[in-house]
Amino acid sequence: MKIGIICAMEEELAPLKKIMSIKETRTKARMEFIEGTLEEKDVVMVISGIGKVNAAVCAQILADDYQVTHLINVGVAGGVKENIQPMDVVVAKALLQHDMDVTAFGLKRGEIPRFESSLFKSDEKLTALALEGSRKNEDYTTHEGIIVSGDQFISSKEKIEDLLETFDAAACEMEGAAIAQAADLNHIPFTVIRAISDNANTGASMDYEKFKDLAVENTVSILTYVLKNL
Ligand code: ADE
Repeated sequence: MKIGIICAMEEELAPLKKIMSIKETRTKARMEFIEGTLEEKDVVMVISGIGKVNAAVCAQILADDYQVTHLINVGVAGGVKENIQPMDVVVAKALLQHDMDVTAFGLKRGEIPRFESSLFKSDEKLTALALEGSRKNEDYTTHEGIIVSGDQFISSKEKIEDLLETFDAAACEMEGAAIAQAADLNHIPFTVIRAISDNANTGASMDYEKFKDLAVENTVSILTYVLKNL
């Protein structure tokens, strides 16, 4: 068993790196792949950079060069559903790319042309463990839902309403669904765990700066719980 852990940004990975015992670090595609152990499990941690392309390239390297058996994406996200607040945690039931748009050819928004699936279901066991670990902390609410990803930082009420109506999204971010598709292509079980940093509304960038580091702290204990029980 070897678990690939992808964070988009340094801030998201830093607290995890602190508790990991590091064996070796290698750089590829300008990404630093840190191998070691956490909760006695072999892990490879990496900062992919922001956006779907970085995330997909990163996941493919983890598949090819490290033969990871599981992929976990950890980080922050914007809340879409009204009952989801900053500091809450959303674990993905499934993910899709909200900016995939081939409606000109009659496809639904989010649908990937000539591809089996567009809604990528996360692995049941990984997701159940993440939910269980997260619910141990009663200081915030844990949600299970659809996470949508796109190469856009969402910061308007209109766009949130659109994501909610079109995709029934619980949260939005910029990498999860790309990792999900790469995992699907490589037959690797995956899940995505996101702490809410903002409500993806007009105040999103301000909230984001205020909550992101605190929100990230919530993901650390969840990840360690998942690793311990996997
Ligand atoms: N990550 C955190 N907040 C986000 C938002 N509002 N839109 C996209 N990605 C995010």
